[in-house]
Amino acid sequence: MAYIQIPDDEKGYKLDLFCVPKHYEEDLDQVIIPHGLIMDRTERLARDIVRDMGGHHIVALCVLKGGYTFFADLLDYIKALNQNSDKSVPLTVDFIRLKSYCNDQSTNIVKVIGGDELSTLTGKDIVETGRTMETLLSLLSECNPKMVKVVSLLVKRTPRSSGYRPDYIGFEVPDLFLVGYALDYNEYFRDLSHICILNENAKEKYKV
Ligand code: IMP
Ligand code: MG
Repeated sequence: MAYIQIPDDEKGYKLDLFCVPKHYEEDLDQVIIPHGLIMDRTERLARDIVRDMGGHHIVALCVLKGGYTFFADLLDYIKALNQNSDKSVPLTVDFIRLKSYCNDQSTNIVKVIGGDELSTLTGKDIVETGRTMETLLSLLSECNPKMVKVVSLLVKRTPRSSGYRPDYIGFEVPDLFLVGYALDYNEYFRDLSHICILNENAKEKYKV
């Protein structure tokens, strides 16, 4: 499946060309994916998903917390398609919370919190090593779903990757720590619309 590749030498956009909350101005290097581009790409992912799902019922499972903005926007686009075309897919939602990160490092422990009816379409923020997603998928397989499709807005190009690839990818990004659009650094920066590169000062400032 096609996706947008953001090269390693991508310069991005200077912060002052966009609207960024004042409380984060000192913490970010540049905007790497502006909010509008995220939305345009998400709209197309919705179209691809509806096309591939045929008329199957979708249980959309949001992987919290980082996936919540992408999940909500993706579902809005699927809903728009559902109400404006001859073909439509019935949709229910569920939520699960996974935690594996401390500061800017992935830990080996993936904690799973919540989620009752685990099934079909899984919406996720970012795949780095792939460990979180592999843990979730093995959990989901215990519920014998008919089909599981994973949609991830971002996939990181990193030598730490396990080789895992989601079914749908928004963007492939360089091996940098990214924040915004619900991606966090120790819970900060979820309240930022654009996806940005965190600077080294900020890593210290918000360290736990
Ligand atoms: P994985 O298990 O290494 O694939 O890590 C996936 C999880 O780590 C994501 O769901 C995020 O919560 C977090 N993560 C990985 N890279 C980043 C990043 O660049 N910014 C923010 N969170 C990240
Ligand atoms: Mg996180």
